[in-house]
Amino acid sequence: MAKIIVKDLQGETQTIDAVNDGSLMEALVEADYDDIEAICGGCCACATCHVFITEDWMPRLPDRGDDETMLLESVDAYDEHRSRLSCQIQMSEDVDELELEIAPPD
Ligand code: FES
Repeated sequence: MAKIIVKDLQGETQTIDAVNDGSLMEALVEADYDDIEAICGGCCACATCHVFITEDWMPRLPDRGDDETMLLESVDAYDEHRSRLSCQIQMSEDVDELELEIAPPD
């Protein structure tokens, strides 16, 4: 089980556990982060699962897909160096100790 270090919109940081066969979005929803609305259920169609990944971690993740990039570019808080849709990141031991910040809602 991978651990994720999450900073919420109130600036509080905590470490949560994530089951390795789910997405990062699912782990955040499971941990009751209400600011991750995930309206589309992980279909890469809503951007309500937007997070900022730390710059250390960004190059260690698989690249954004074209659909993910197009959707992210449409949100106000988009940061090309840190933005990801958490539903597009698969949990595994490879991302153990991943650090992120919940992005503000659009
Ligand atoms: S849950 Fe909708 S884009 Fe991620």
